[in-house]
Amino acid sequence: MIRILDRLGRPLLRLIDAEAAHALTIKAMRWAPTLPARADDRRLQVAAMGLRFPNPVGMAAGFDKNARVPDALLALGFGFVEIGTVTPRPQSGNLPPRLFRMSRDRAVINRLGFNNDGVARVRERLTARASAAGIIGVNVGANKDAPDRAGDYATAIAALAEPASYFTVNVSSPNTPGLRDLQHKAALDDLLARVIDARDRAAATAGRKPILLKIAPDLALAELDDIVAVARARRIDGMIISNTTVSRPGALQDLIPAREPGGLSGRPLFALSTRMLAETFVRVERAFPLIGVGGIDSGTSALAKVRAGALLIQLYTGLIYCGLRVLDEIKRALVRELEVEGAGALADLVGRDASARTAERW
Ligand SMILES: Cc1cc2nc3c(=O)[nH]c(=O)nc-3n(C[C@H](O)[C@H](O)[C@H](O)COP(=O)(O)O)c2cc1C
Repeated sequence: MIRILDRLGRPLLRLIDAEAAHALTIKAMRWAPTLPARADDRRLQVAAMGLRFPNPVGMAAGFDKNARVPDALLALGFGFVEIGTVTPRPQSGNLPPRLFRMSRDRAVINRLGFNNDGVARVRERLTARASAAGIIGVNVGANKDAPDRAGDYATAIAALAEPASYFTVNVSSPNTPGLRDLQHKAALDDLLARVIDARDRAAATAGRKPILLKIAPDLALAELDDIVAVARARRIDGMIISNTTVSRPGALQDLIPAREPGGLSGRPLFALSTRMLAETFVRVERAFPLIGVGGIDSGTSALAKVRAGALLIQLYTGLIYCGLRVLDEIKRALVRELEVEGAGALADLVGRDASARTAERW
């Protein structure tokens, strides 16, 4: 049913305001009947961070901020779903308009600002589905007015440790002033220490949940050196590269929305986020796995992420423009590549092009 709506309704959704279209999509997904996903090709299975992913393609954070439709997303064929960003207290985010389509560029600019229902409501929803299968990551952040930002991350993790399959520490949203400063060495070290402490305290009852760090694409390589050094020293479980960019890569066509402040996602983010992924891969030296996200909208772009260093991938904006068929296309392309390369598993292809990518001119 959702697939039929996706095919027929998506062109109509483009005619209304972007945020209204998103709200309508979530509503339709809550009410439309879903059948369980068809079993994936076994070669697409990925074992990482103590979890077994049926396929490597995840729904990126920001689509289902409030854990309204994680099971519908899994039933559509995603290998995992990342909900959030969730903050300890509910907050309404920035004033609308705050979400802008750039259709000719196949991109979106958002400055939502962590609008979300808060950990208590999200915990209720996730607890209600606790017996259901499927990997649900929880992306956590700090409230805009938090006096102690690192404390907010620890609070969110303590509150959601039981239902979460993994946590993503989001220090890369451009829409909460100052949040990206948590990527600086000393602040990041303190943040990760407190986050890991919160995770370890909850482990006795909730189990040890993996902690991932999601970074911005707008970092100098010296900053990335520091981030990876801290992440490795603190022994986190993985990194996600990347969030949206505050830059406006050249040759954009939708120049009026491009002037809006906020984070740019979609096709124009692909080159930058893939370069940062490769740069991260060569620094991490396989100490932990990477999730590649940013501008995936085809089998080819998904494969490029894997070859640049991603064991798992996520997408959001590509779905707005291509619909669910892109999910099937990506899975087919990955299986085809495994066959062509004579590889038994995706892990064999991860990072094959990383060094070449880092050698390219910016
Ligand atoms: C409307 C919108 C809202 C988003 N909200 C979040 C968020 O709450 N937390 C987060 O970590 N990333 C958020 N993102 C970023 C995505 O998770 C992803 O990192 C980024 O969009 C790049 O992927 P894409 O090009 O496939 O969209 C959001 C993206 C969009 C388009």
